[in-house]
Amino acid sequence: MSSYLVEPGGVLRGECRVPGDKSISHRALMLGAIAEGTTRIHGFLASEDCLATLGALRALGVACEGAEPSAELCIVGRGRDALQAPAETLQLGNAGTSMRLLAGLLAPCPFAVTLDGDSSLRRRPMERIAEPLRQLGAVVETSPDGTAPLHLAGVRSPLKAIDWDLPVASAQIKSCLLLAALGAQGETVIKEPAPSRDHTERMLAHYGCPPQRRDGALVISGGKLVGDVELQVPGDFSSAMFLLVAASCTPDSELLLPGVGVNPSRTGGLDILRAMGADIRVLAQREQGGEPVADIRVRYAPLRGLRIDPTLVPRAIDEFPALCVAAAAASGVTEFDGAVELRHKESDRLHTMAVGLQALGITVEERPAGLVIHGGQLGGGRVASAGDHRVALAFACVAGAASSSILIDDCDNVRTSWPSFIADASALGLPVVQKD
Ligand code: S3P
Repeated sequence: MSSYLVEPGGVLRGECRVPGDKSISHRALMLGAIAEGTTRIHGFLASEDCLATLGALRALGVACEGAEPSAELCIVGRGRDALQAPAETLQLGNAGTSMRLLAGLLAPCPFAVTLDGDSSLRRRPMERIAEPLRQLGAVVETSPDGTAPLHLAGVRSPLKAIDWDLPVASAQIKSCLLLAALGAQGETVIKEPAPSRDHTERMLAHYGCPPQRRDGALVISGGKLVGDVELQVPGDFSSAMFLLVAASCTPDSELLLPGVGVNPSRTGGLDILRAMGADIRVLAQREQGGEPVADIRVRYAPLRGLRIDPTLVPRAIDEFPALCVAAAAASGVTEFDGAVELRHKESDRLHTMAVGLQALGITVEERPAGLVIHGGQLGGGRVASAGDHRVALAFACVAGAASSSILIDDCDNVRTSWPSFIADASALGLPVVQKD
């Protein structure tokens, strides 16, 4: 297992094109696979998670043209009915989005399929998708703990539309249901307790099949995606966030990040960081393939702690590891609640971040659904990423504010979202090296 060693000091300067958006890359492959037509994807994130989705689709008989791993891909879709039973269990590694969305995509299919993943993915809750898929008429089994492996028995008759209230704001549950409902008879109505990322809705609109909004609910009818489509994947805001925090915490730094996705359902972390005093400008906002995109400029600025409004949590859900290290480097106290979902990510992020920050000399109180972080002088030390890419990246990006070096264990999983991180960050001036 590789570790990262980050030295204090350094100045971050220059321009970085962050990797393609992970959520959008997964969706581009999946919608491309069930469309009747060719989907050309530009800026695809060729990371372990997205390649797991691609491998699964290939095992289902979907043709993909393009050298691998490559940012340019072409999916030759022949419709959902053309999917074939895979010879083996679909292994999805660490990719929660892949498992939950593929379950929805495959729920209307007549053949049996098993979805499985690594030990982290096998700990994540799957009944939250299994239950509504059963209501639609699919036959779904999870382990006795409600986790993967997930077995779909295949259906003999078409799925039937349902009305479903999501128990939590989750784009993965919502998108699983949208993909299943598109293959069901009738009109499915999905209600969310708060808005989550809306990439699936936007991409369906790009294929000419937008879900409707009615009384705050999403409404989708069964149908087909037909036609050839070009999709430009924007830079991943969640990857950009690490550099926004790194530059904000490292004196004299200034970075320009061109072509980053700034979908408002994803940029809660930007709003929070700005409220902490960060100097960030969103420039040249434009639209690409139905998604808002901009160039983001960030300059060093002293940060101060704050109480994070719980309503911002769903819009910043993947940004909490980065926000936690920003809070540790800030003056004053940062407090957040209403974020119990962080316990169900690639690691229990409330616990992993609390323990890691404490190892660096920061006072942190862990609450059931949040943390209280007392900003102060970060020391050096050794932290565990718990195999979680966003935890590893967060600790790598706060070194500029630390008094001595930080060793981060177990960083292989950075390959799930940012395979070129060491090269990209080093080119900007972050003193980080990989130790095998
Ligand atoms: C994602 C949704 C979020 C997020 C994950 C990607 C997606 O998960 O944390 O990294 O692509 O739909 P939840 O839906 O569980 O909140």
